[in-house]
Amino acid sequence: MNENKSAVTLETERLTLRPPTVDDAEEMFRKRNYSIRPMTLADYPQCFALWQITSGADTRHDCKYEVLANILARNPDTCYIAEQNGIIIATVTCEFGGDGAYISHLAVAPELRRMGIAKTLVAALEQRLDALGVRKSRILVFSGNTTAEKFWREMGYGTRDDVFFMDKEL
Ligand SMILES: CC(C)(COP(=O)(O)OP(=O)(O)OC[C@H]1O[C@@H](n2cnc3c(N)ncnc32)[C@H](O)[C@@H]1OP(=O)(O)O)[C@@H](O)C(=O)NCCC(=O)NCCS
Repeated sequence: MNENKSAVTLETERLTLRPPTVDDAEEMFRKRNYSIRPMTLADYPQCFALWQITSGADTRHDCKYEVLANILARNPDTCYIAEQNGIIIATVTCEFGGDGAYISHLAVAPELRRMGIAKTLVAALEQRLDALGVRKSRILVFSGNTTAEKFWREMGYGTRDDVFFMDKEL
């Protein structure tokens, strides 16, 4: 297995966390065996390690422990990770309320893209939302993130020209 320079060592837990390597990708492509399960707060260190190397994600400003803790506390059933051999390879979170759902933190390890992992993860999430009676899901995509735009369009999401995005620091 290649040594990965992005490895993050948590001295306190004596755990070495690292993003997936090319070797992981090859093994996964051969076996195609990964599993999807609900995200827990204990996953945070590995999720953070993944988000750190995921360019283009909408997670860069939202990857703090407190933010994820808040999301998971309110939405424990609609946040998922995909993992293989104990390594988290993809994430997605989703908050929902009376007016539909808001998806964020979608990220797949760079070496493992175009294998249908995000599609599988989002399909699992949408199935869950459907079971919960949620009829609308939304995603914020940064301008210029053409990969994400293509992905979401492929998943059936469309842009609207009758609304635009506004926000305010509170
Ligand atoms: C966007 C992202 C999550 C897609 O993950 P992925 O696992 O590679 O996506 P999938 O393999 O499930 O792709 C499903 C379909 O989306 C489209 N798609 C995905 N990546 C694409 C790309 N780079 N170029 C063109 N189309 C793409 C294709 O139609 C693809 O189907 P195909 O491979 O059969 O052609 C991944 O590229 C990523 O993590 N990007 C960085 C983080 C990010 O931008 N997150 C989204 C924030 S809104």
